[in-house]
Amino acid sequence: MSELKSQDAIESDNILQVRNLAVEFHTETGRTKALQGVSFDVPRGQVTAIIGESGSGKSVTASAIMRLIQPPGRVTAGSIDFAPSGSEPYDVLALVDKDSRLEQLRGDHISMVFQEPMTALAPVYTVGNQVAEAILCHREVSKKVAWDEAANMLQRVGIDDLQRRMQQYPFEFSGGMRQRVVIAMALVCQPDLLICDEPTTALDVTIQAEILTLIRQLKGELNNSVLFITHDIGVVAQLADHVVVMQGGRVLEAGTVRQVLKQPMHPYSKGLMAAIPGLAPKGQRLATVASVVGATDITTAYPLTRLADGRQISLSPSQLKAFGHE
Ligand SMILES: Nc1ncnc2c1ncn2[C@@H]1O[C@H](COP(=O)(O)OP(=O)(O)OP(=O)(O)O)[C@@H](O)[C@H]1O
Ligand SMILES: [Mg+2]
Repeated sequence: MSELKSQDAIESDNILQVRNLAVEFHTETGRTKALQGVSFDVPRGQVTAIIGESGSGKSVTASAIMRLIQPPGRVTAGSIDFAPSGSEPYDVLALVDKDSRLEQLRGDHISMVFQEPMTALAPVYTVGNQVAEAILCHREVSKKVAWDEAANMLQRVGIDDLQRRMQQYPFEFSGGMRQRVVIAMALVCQPDLLICDEPTTALDVTIQAEILTLIRQLKGELNNSVLFITHDIGVVAQLADHVVVMQGGRVLEAGTVRQVLKQPMHPYSKGLMAAIPGLAPKGQRLATVASVVGATDITTAYPLTRLADGRQISLSPSQLKAFGHE
């Protein structure tokens, strides 16, 4: 893979830098260029959303970051520079298969949460054992310590009645609770980067909102970086600091939510403005934010913001900044 050498040094505020990434699939029906010249940054400690319609290349991008592209797929060009905390930055695509960093990458440094929680859980182990095992796989601690840490994380993601719940099997949990367990498993090893690939699409709307609130809250507490894949513009408006808009295997536009709001080129980006409560499609700034109310919304830890029409919503500090409220 010598042609896959890094092109730029990674900037210190970025945890991940994707440059000119190209992926192809060779199938009986021909060659599909799944990604072409994909470049974007994932700034450290923030939420970056990738949005795009079905088939635009979102999941293939995530797989490439995890080095999970399997034949008939192939990375044909590009670099993915990754700078985990406490390690020298390296190009994920340049690692040879037996490099120990590859094992660290999946699980220690980057965790993934997928759309369907059942696929990430083994049906024959109790929930407690699975979360504890995720810890034991990556760290040298006693079973007792792993169990206690698993309990702690399950509590943080909102699983009640812990001692009984940890002895139960995944089929005894609802879909929303399973996704909470998967998020707990993804977070127990304190990954530098959490990748969520449409983690709420299989859930009903109220549970979706709860899971999004949870991810935002945990991100605030654990201060990791999040790459959040979605086709839901409302999710971007609610959750993300940065956005990458993809279509047909290419990046159409990328930047802070503020930048993309200023000059939306793509219908998705235009939709982004419409999805923010109270923001008129033509308004360049959220002039409709009337005031930032002093109290903090306890469910999200973000300050409550009053819109001109009287509604109160909670916006993250960077979203407030994007709307001109420093
Ligand atoms: N295993 C595969 N074999 C052949 N083609 C594939 C494979 N995986 C992905 N592709 C192709 O790559 C392109 C991008 O797919 P990808 O799964 O990344 O889309 P997506 O944006 O995640 O869509 P969705 O929102 O439906 O999940 C599509 O054209 C798809 O058909
Ligand atoms: Mg996908």
